[in-house]
Amino acid sequence: MSSLISGLTVLSSVGVDLHKRLLKSVGLTKSLLKSSDAPSIRPYEIFRPNPRWSRLESSDLKILGVPGFRNIAEHIVHFEIPSDILQTFHAHNSVQFPSSKEESMRMDEIFNAETLPLINTFVGNAVAFFPDDYKAVIAKSRLGEESTVYDKRYASYMGLHVDNWCEPKIDLMRRNKSAVRIFVNLGTEARDLNFINLTLAQILEIMQSHEKIEAFRSANNPIQLCHAFMENFPEYPVVQLEVYPGEGCVVPVCNIIHDGYTLYKSEPDVNLTLTSQGFCLRESFLASFISKDTLSSCCL
Ligand SMILES: [Fe+2]
Repeated sequence: MSSLISGLTVLSSVGVDLHKRLLKSVGLTKSLLKSSDAPSIRPYEIFRPNPRWSRLESSDLKILGVPGFRNIAEHIVHFEIPSDILQTFHAHNSVQFPSSKEESMRMDEIFNAETLPLINTFVGNAVAFFPDDYKAVIAKSRLGEESTVYDKRYASYMGLHVDNWCEPKIDLMRRNKSAVRIFVNLGTEARDLNFINLTLAQILEIMQSHEKIEAFRSANNPIQLCHAFMENFPEYPVVQLEVYPGEGCVVPVCNIIHDGYTLYKSEPDVNLTLTSQGFCLRESFLASFISKDTLSSCCL
């Protein structure tokens, strides 16, 4: 399975040519992590995109760009914030890494006072309803890494994964797939988002004949299913979306395999992440770039 199959799609309200923003990898690589400090922690296999990337073919673009909106868990939705908000952030906050805890706290204070209210107001009014439980965090990732998820136990980045902070997560079919993350690139360089364009339900379907299928289905963490998929289909492409400064994405991180990627970057990867169990995209936002007859389930 070395070609994309229909699944999650990318919807962009930014008006850019997605062909110029999307790449695909020649499948996956696998490596084994070991904890040198604590040999009792068992070795852990991780998967990353094969760093041989190519432009998408027109057939790939058709698959990723199927028009229409189903529900928030089955799309990556690309948007932009007004440029003056990004300028405010750059004027008040350094995009460099803080040199001390005190500097980090001071930068967070400035961000919370100056930029965060502007982004919250814009995104809350123009893109999505903000539920009461939403959290906002500014994140900076180290450069030159094939992943942005760090695990202290292995002193290493973990690679492609599915988030598991959704509630409920009773089992695979009953987990809250609408728990999404919205991120906004506040850096000065494009941010790369890697993902596999298949939902957990599709991966479960593809893995029907696997000997552990019942265990995968009833597990409250999909990581074993996803690792088994990547082990069995190492040639399946990872898609990469380039997100420019001032642009953001709504990403169903609890329903797709994904990761950040700073391998080819020279400027700090700085982004605001908004997290909630139940963001709901505004119909007016979707209607601004998607045909209205496909919007009936927009809040599911
Ligand atoms: Fe994640």
